[in-house]
Amino acid sequence: DQDSTCSVTVVGASGDLAKKKIFPALFALFYEGYLPKHFTIYGYARSKMTNEQLRDMISTTLTCRIDQRENCGQKQEDFLKRCFYHAGQYDSEDSFKELDAKLREQEGDRTANRVFYLSIPPNIFVDVARCSSRAASSSNGYTRVIVEKPFGRDLQSSGELSQGLAEHLSEDQIYRIDHYLGKELVENLSVLRFSNLIFEPLWSRQFIRNVQIIFSEDFGTEGRGGYFDNYGIIRDIMQNHLLQLLALLAMEPPVSLAAEDIRNEKVKALRSMKPIRLEDVVVGQYKEHTSKSGVSYPAYTDDKTVPSNSITPTFSCIAMFIDNARWDGVPFLMKAGKALNDKRAEIRIQFRHVPGNLYKNSFGTDLDKATNELVMRVQPDEAIYLKINNKVPGLGVRLDRSNLNLQYAERYKKKEFPDSYERLILDVINGDKRLFIRDDELAAAWKLFTPLLKELEEKQVAPELYPYGSRGPIGAHYLAAKYNVRWGDQS
Ligand code: BG6
Repeated sequence: DQDSTCSVTVVGASGDLAKKKIFPALFALFYEGYLPKHFTIYGYARSKMTNEQLRDMISTTLTCRIDQRENCGQKQEDFLKRCFYHAGQYDSEDSFKELDAKLREQEGDRTANRVFYLSIPPNIFVDVARCSSRAASSSNGYTRVIVEKPFGRDLQSSGELSQGLAEHLSEDQIYRIDHYLGKELVENLSVLRFSNLIFEPLWSRQFIRNVQIIFSEDFGTEGRGGYFDNYGIIRDIMQNHLLQLLALLAMEPPVSLAAEDIRNEKVKALRSMKPIRLEDVVVGQYKEHTSKSGVSYPAYTDDKTVPSNSITPTFSCIAMFIDNARWDGVPFLMKAGKALNDKRAEIRIQFRHVPGNLYKNSFGTDLDKATNELVMRVQPDEAIYLKINNKVPGLGVRLDRSNLNLQYAERYKKKEFPDSYERLILDVINGDKRLFIRDDELAAAWKLFTPLLKELEEKQVAPELYPYGSRGPIGAHYLAAKYNVRWGDQS
């Protein structure tokens, strides 16, 4: 509606997330003309700062994508003029009342839509939800609140947080971000599956041998050790980002593309998962490594903010199973690690052997090398490729496995795609909940992981050490081998 106003208040405006992701994403949306005509941004934090100082701070974070270079400087100036600062306490209704007055002044008598982005530690989510909803809710438009993980450390603490928020906000108003859901390739998962005849009929235990969901980073937790040590890789990456990918891959076809239909199916998939057994889990932690050229990389425990005897995993690999008709017996393997040899996130679906394959002798004894594999590379270099068997051209019959390859950069002539925060913030403004986590979905995710996390902690399971920059602990291979799986990223 052209006549309404929209404000986004970034609570915790001087934090890392705000600087690295939120302001740049808002600017990119502004650049592309996606933001409503009457649009303002408020930075909210405790320290004293003028509008000018906030603008200076934001301006250092803004860049323009390659396709947004035209008029970049002018657009940045226009954008900064829409940014204002409000200093306030996080648990003070009065502070939010003052903000409300400033917002009202700008909104005039237009319909006022308000978004609050809680870019703050979760222990103050509820305070801010209380104060902002009592003192700074819109009186004639919507009021929406964005929150982001960590949503607690386990089922109980996450439940308490959900309950605390629910006292002040309706589920309708809460947008729980999992930024993996905003990635280009991830949104494409359901397109690939549900709009291509060659995939959906094969999408079950009958044709799929195993599914691999892989995340790796080639840097450690430097600078974030304090946060990380309280969570570990399972809570940081697996319980949320990777499990979301799994739910999208495994869910039954939703009735429609409506948010509730999709989320209903995701919750069902999560609730169908078998409890995770400790023997199906490998944990690792990176140790110091000196490269051949003499560069030395620190151990996780070298970080000053990490206790020297910490057993927090920086790597984990888990075999999971879904107890339903579609997936009975199919291993879903997740692997996530920091300080490994490369940076990537990808999904690999390995198909079964062709029954009675006429060409089996062309592959020697290793028939696993003759199966199809569908790879969706979420990052970097977005791509989807399918490994197929092909005759090597020439006389005689020799086969090899080649890729039918859809490389995004080449196909779509773009090197950069919108950051996931752009898509997600725009969805909040438009009220589209497809890519956000519903409360029962969050609970189902914690229900699955909490017993495992408790067991690991109670038994003080020591992580397998792996050198910084390596492929991770060897245990990941043994675990996969137990289910006749070979990691696709390492073959
Ligand atoms: C965050 C984790 O949620 O995701 C970080 O807390 C991790 O540890 C990051 O580095 C990875 O996100 P991306 O988009 O860079 O793959």
